[in-house]
Amino acid sequence: MPNSPPNLITTPPWQQMIHWIADPLAFQDRYSREYGDIFTMRLGKVGTYVVLSSPAAVQDIFNQDAKFDIGRGNAIAEPLIGKNSLMLMDGDRHRQQRKLLMPPFHGERLQTYAHQICQITQQAIAQWSTGQTFVARSAMQVISLEVILKIVFGLSDGQRYQQLKPLLADWLDMTDSPLRSSLLFLRFLQRDWGSWSPWGRMKQRQRQVHELLQAEIAERRTQGDTGRTDVLSLMMAARDEAGEAMSDEALKDELLTILFAGHETTATTLAWAFYQIHQHLDIRQKLLQELASLEEFTPTTAARLPYLSAVCQETLRLYPVLPVIFPRIAKSSVKVGGYEFEAETILMASIYLVHSREDLYPQAHTFRPERFLERQYTPAEYLPFGGGSRRCLGYALAQLEMKLVLATVLSQYQLALAAAKPVKIQRRGFTLAPAGGVQLRVVSKIS
Ligand code: HEM
Repeated sequence: MPNSPPNLITTPPWQQMIHWIADPLAFQDRYSREYGDIFTMRLGKVGTYVVLSSPAAVQDIFNQDAKFDIGRGNAIAEPLIGKNSLMLMDGDRHRQQRKLLMPPFHGERLQTYAHQICQITQQAIAQWSTGQTFVARSAMQVISLEVILKIVFGLSDGQRYQQLKPLLADWLDMTDSPLRSSLLFLRFLQRDWGSWSPWGRMKQRQRQVHELLQAEIAERRTQGDTGRTDVLSLMMAARDEAGEAMSDEALKDELLTILFAGHETTATTLAWAFYQIHQHLDIRQKLLQELASLEEFTPTTAARLPYLSAVCQETLRLYPVLPVIFPRIAKSSVKVGGYEFEAETILMASIYLVHSREDLYPQAHTFRPERFLERQYTPAEYLPFGGGSRRCLGYALAQLEMKLVLATVLSQYQLALAAAKPVKIQRRGFTLAPAGGVQLRVVSKIS
């Protein structure tokens, strides 16, 4: 990094920290207006970050991912996901672990999940009745939690499943507002003073979840090979290059990593999709027409629909659940976006700012799925799932799930927004979500 970091924000770091936790989008709007495509923010002890938003700089980062420590930059998530998480690994260890975890989330295996996703959705919506109102985000979280529990954990019934489900939901809800999210950023709040302190309660839930997962792993070990295809079974059967199996601790940490990374993100994006589809009835109409044009509704045919895909892409563009990619810590000096940065500089590409660029997305704050039918975007111009060596492990599963849930719900129910007021974006832990979760009303059941 040059002697002084580029465009260093001069506001006191504690003020920047509060602003970043409370409203990371307003924060980025303000300083990108002031400084353009690059600025440096200081978040006190959490760190100093160079935020970049030109596609050229993003491309430089993705091309040179091997020059950064990224797991180390995610240390802030350790208290939640555990120290053996893929997200916290670097170098060879990270590469090997990704190789092990990738196959279950891609290619043929993914297709076998498609039916399960449709079934889970069907079950979740079967009881909806005319006139009923519900919170879209919560309804979607029930579905996405069920998908992860079934596909990844291999659980879909039984006592352990019944105990785990509410416990996980409760645990995740503990950071559902900006104030409660500060727990994750401010170390001094991370004190376990028993179950009456917020951190104590969080840790208590975590212990309970770990105990249940440990019991599940122990049971599977005694069962031996049962031909199961869930991700936990695949992880238990895997061996590293030295022939070693994953330890119980490592298995639990990876399960929780996938749970944290995978289920809230997908549920939140789906809630935004429902919001936009029911704000723009022409979009809903086009989706229904496209669905009606299918000779036969199957998970495979539905997942291929171009307009449905464009609606999902546009939702992910306008509402990035993660406003920035994982921080990249330079291992040695590195050139990005025309700047030379010294070792230990932390760089962060802003998904939100790239997706808001008028030169790429005219009328960037308008929801217009057609833009994805009119042109192709490069990985540095469209990056809801990040990129380079860290590209989201679940990107294919998340997109498949979004399309199948939308197709299943829209073809069976006519819904409407239950409130006319615009829905604001609000921090929820490390992610951004719709404040209030988007209230929907069931107008009628179709057919
Ligand atoms: C709409 C849904 C989702 C969004 C928007 C999303 C977004 C992201 C982003 C931005 C990253 C960081 C990439 C980077 O820094 O370059 C990431 C990483 C990751 N995501 Fe997702 N994600 C979603 C769903 C999922 C799902 C369903 C899973 C698991 C089944 C998952 C698992 C992960 C994991 C494990 C990582 C860390 C990868 C690594 O460190 O190598 N995500 N995701």
